[in-house]
Amino acid sequence: MSLRRAKITAVGTFVPQRIVTNDELSLMLDTSDEWISARTGIRERHIAGKEAASDLGAVAARRALEAAGVGAGKVDLIIVASLSPDALFPSTASYISAAIGAGGAPVFDLSAACTGFIYALSVGAAYIASEQAERVLIIGADVASKMVDWTDRRTAVLFGDGAGAVLLEPAGEGEEGIIGFSLGNDPAGVDQLSIPAGGSRLPATEATVAEHMHFIQMNGREVYKFASRIIVSSARQVLQEHGRRVEDVDLFVPHQANIRIIDSAARRLGFPPEKVFSNLERYGNTSCASIPLCLDEAATVGRLKRGDLVLMVGFGGGLSWGSCLARW
Ligand code: ACO
Repeated sequence: MSLRRAKITAVGTFVPQRIVTNDELSLMLDTSDEWISARTGIRERHIAGKEAASDLGAVAARRALEAAGVGAGKVDLIIVASLSPDALFPSTASYISAAIGAGGAPVFDLSAACTGFIYALSVGAAYIASEQAERVLIIGADVASKMVDWTDRRTAVLFGDGAGAVLLEPAGEGEEGIIGFSLGNDPAGVDQLSIPAGGSRLPATEATVAEHMHFIQMNGREVYKFASRIIVSSARQVLQEHGRRVEDVDLFVPHQANIRIIDSAARRLGFPPEKVFSNLERYGNTSCASIPLCLDEAATVGRLKRGDLVLMVGFGGGLSWGSCLARW
């Protein structure tokens, strides 16, 4: 007996209104549009005001539910992936549940840095497969702008804020839906990308604040090398495990961190540019929101159609990675 498959039945997204261009950043940091766009592909990003991750995530969630015609009270489970949660606890999912009126459904956060959205999809799909849930809301919501050191040009220019939500429901008779995942984590890279303080290892003190340890710290070069390698191997693994070839894929949706990483991975995998989706130029790295923001835009502009085979690949702190192969 095979387990039932999950399917993405709706998407909703939200980004804050305020756009900050590279030129604006160069007024406050020793950087330039030329450096940022040449090294990363980013030209502008949306930056939140007072909103927390749940404020963005709640709008995205409402939009996904509206698109599906499903009331918030009908959701069986909410999983939120975020590296900038509202608080250490309760979960950002609890705040979103309250904001959208989800009633008594179980909710929790999943911490896997920028891979969080793919990990959360895999958990949601497992709940559907094991018949513990009929409707699972997966939300990637991040306001990394509140987690970066605005005096550090090496990280501040990379991130943007946003949220994306998808609704998972059981796939219909004969529908493939979500086909499979390839997930992993390399513990050797645990210190390469993190917010070191504010948790139980380094609780907040005057020293942790003075040393900027509550902000994202990253070894950019190492993360770059890791990402360029892991996107290729993880994508190949999920394709191979499910008997698909690169040519079968209609749209490749990698995590949006750096256009050079995306281009090199796409080239090595053999994807022609028209099969690679990127909106990094306008959003920067929106962490857990980056893949659903791409899915929504790709579907809206007609680059992702019902029945298409889509390959999503995420990576991030951990150092973690995850690929998901799905029939749209
Ligand atoms: N403007 C101008 N100069 C800069 C800037 C900037 N914004 N940032 C760094 N520089 C300088 C550096 O100081 C350095 O100068 P130096 O040679 O005088 O010391 C020089 O540019 C080169 O710096 P590198 O760090 O070597 O630059 P690199 O080419 O590696 O690009 C980057 C840096 C863009 C961060 C790249 O390493 C990268 O994209 N890494 C991967 C990041 C990533 O994918 N993160 C995903 C995170 S996912 C998650 O879980 C959050």
